[in-house]
Amino acid sequence: MTLTFAEPNPNAIPIHVISADKADDALARLPDAARSWAKAHDFMGGLGEVLTVPADKNGIAAVLIGYGTQAKRARDRFHLAVAAKKLPAGVYHLASGLEGDALEEAALAWLLSAYRFDRYRKPGKDGARLIAPDGVDAARLQVIAEGEALTRDLINTPAADMGPKELEEAAQSLSSTHDARINVIKGDSLVSSNFPMIHAVGRASTRAPRLIDMRWGDSGPGLTLVGKGVCFDTGGLNIKPAASMGLMKKDMGGAATVLGLAHMIMGLGLKLRLRVLIPAVENSIDGNAYRPQDILTSRKGLTVEINNTDAEGRLVLADALTLSDEDDPDLVVSMATLTGAARVAVGPDLSPFYTDNDDHAAALAKAAARVADPVWRMPFHEPYEAMIEPSIADLDNAPKGGFAGSITAALFLRRFVENPYMHFDIYGWQPSDAPARPKGGVGMGARAVLEALPEMLGL
Ligand code: BES
Ligand code: ZN
Ligand code: ZN
Repeated sequence: MTLTFAEPNPNAIPIHVISADKADDALARLPDAARSWAKAHDFMGGLGEVLTVPADKNGIAAVLIGYGTQAKRARDRFHLAVAAKKLPAGVYHLASGLEGDALEEAALAWLLSAYRFDRYRKPGKDGARLIAPDGVDAARLQVIAEGEALTRDLINTPAADMGPKELEEAAQSLSSTHDARINVIKGDSLVSSNFPMIHAVGRASTRAPRLIDMRWGDSGPGLTLVGKGVCFDTGGLNIKPAASMGLMKKDMGGAATVLGLAHMIMGLGLKLRLRVLIPAVENSIDGNAYRPQDILTSRKGLTVEINNTDAEGRLVLADALTLSDEDDPDLVVSMATLTGAARVAVGPDLSPFYTDNDDHAAALAKAAARVADPVWRMPFHEPYEAMIEPSIADLDNAPKGGFAGSITAALFLRRFVENPYMHFDIYGWQPSDAPARPKGGVGMGARAVLEALPEMLGL
């Protein structure tokens, strides 16, 4: 798997990207041979169509890739990845038809089309490779693709091989790549260091819970990323039914996504002080498991009545969020596969996010559109605060009634943060193959956040 651009090469095969709504003009500008070949094959630029134009003797003189109409393209993203997969191995360059954000998206799509999770099988052969198009920041796109691949690999790795310890190792390895500093508090030390809810959720597993705390950079605004690292979510004593447990290796998708984003930030050398906090636990069942109706006292001192041991993500995140406040960052961003309700509300393709800051929301929405990483703002709806307040503790981790499950979880988390806060309730999983996103783990919202950081933090 090679997620890099090919070296410049004078023999690279030119690609012309042809929109269906401007096909006549675009075809008219092609070299004669390509134009008549297109005509002979009735090529009109339909989305995903690929036509190779033969060279005189042998080989390929050029490739035409159909880019469809605006309306067709709007139904998905990363379209160039489909064509990249269809082409024979070789080196190509984008000669015409794309510019600006569309060119960037195409170049990234191409890189990501080479992603394959090959930890448990033979690596695939390199396919068609692209030379970095003029005008795109190739190094930046490669770092982004690497970050995304890291996220996917971490999510795709089965829970047996991606427990709290292995998640810590992934953070350690990222940290040494970028000369970051890392500190981990694990097992019973979580109790003495006052992370009671991380300990309570993780203590029933044979694999010790831990809090991973990574820091990088020493000047500029402070950004703290907090990722849910539930390496497997059985639901605890409120055990999940089989169908719901089936995908729960991905319940560390928030941690995987913040690690991928951290790689992008550090790899690009952004001028900020980064901190990454990951409560890494396995939500398991044993004699010492936390129980429904237990009342936990959080790091912040707020008490939480457990009404469902399957609402564990908000508990481990709450202690990490309280810690995030202790050095007053300019922005805290949490990412978590937090609720089934978020998936019901917006499906697997959109990243629902919460913020109280309208400027941040606007910056993020614009950035998301630019980089094809769609997000949707959800409300911290205050009238629902009462739903997370039971009678005998400060907070309820699992309000009954089934209303607004993603919102009440977000309101719960917000109780633990004083600093500017943005929260993503992501799905972290691509349910079936899509362009540049094979079925499996997928980063959500990270590229949008990366793109929005300059505006949100004044970089
Ligand atoms: N990890 C799940 C949420 C989840 C489920 C995310 C499916 C993506 C897909 C989380 O820990 C959970 O089980 N949440 C419960 C909370 C409820 C008990 C209040 C949920 O959403 O059903
Ligand atoms: Zn759960
Ligand atoms: Zn969970």
